[in-house]
Amino acid sequence: MSYWFYFNFILFCLLLWKVASHFSFPLLKIHIIFGAIGFLFFLYNWTRNAVFSTIRQAKDRQIKIKLANLSRKAMPYHRWTGTLALVFILLHGIAVWNTFGFTWQNGKMMFGLLALLNLIAMVATGWLRLVKPSGKMRRLHLRLGILLFFLIGIHLLL
Ligand code: HEM
Ligand code: HEM
Repeated sequence: MSYWFYFNFILFCLLLWKVASHFSFPLLKIHIIFGAIGFLFFLYNWTRNAVFSTIRQAKDRQIKIKLANLSRKAMPYHRWTGTLALVFILLHGIAVWNTFGFTWQNGKMMFGLLALLNLIAMVATGWLRLVKPSGKMRRLHLRLGILLFFLIGIHLLL
């Protein structure tokens, strides 16, 4: 099993901890609900990376085939769940700006904004690679995903 499953699990625990310790818990504010839903769509799509790297590492051919079939079954949803992640994070950003206004002084807001720009690039490269597949787009889509993982991690921690 790829280490990415553990990393993703840790990020998921970080989300649960941060949401549960928000002052508005359990009657969560709308910007937190949008952020958490967007996060879940992101993590669903990002788990594809953990599955792919497990396939690459697996020595047993039967396991490789099983995982590849599972991954293929999830693929038709991938483009929509990825796009929905962007929609919910845009709603999260709009709700945050309505509540707190905008400032360059706040680290959480800055890393949120960087994560949003990264997510836009992620969705754009996803659609580009679907329309016109290329090795360059594949690597870019994957590297943007790794960067986004860390940006979201910092955004939650701050
Ligand atoms: C991929 C992008 C993003 C994800 C996955 C995300 C996710 C989340 C989640 C789950 C929370 C609640 C947990 C916590 O307080 O740490 C949160 C809080 C917050 N987010 Fe985001 N966010 C993203 C982008 C943004 C953007 C674009 C902004 C706006 C500039 C932003 C600003 C904030 C702020 C200010 C809070 C704290 C709200 C509070 O304490 O009431 N985030 N984010
Ligand atoms: C949150 C947003 C997204 C994330 C985190 C994400 C993540 C990933 C990952 C990890 C892979 C496997 C990488 C590899 O080739 O090794 C992948 C593949 C792919 N993604 Fe995305 N993606 C996102 C959004 C999108 C969107 C919106 C589309 C739109 C069409 C898309 C299209 C694709 C395509 C066509 C593949 C190749 C699938 C295959 O070879 O079976 N992605 N994505």
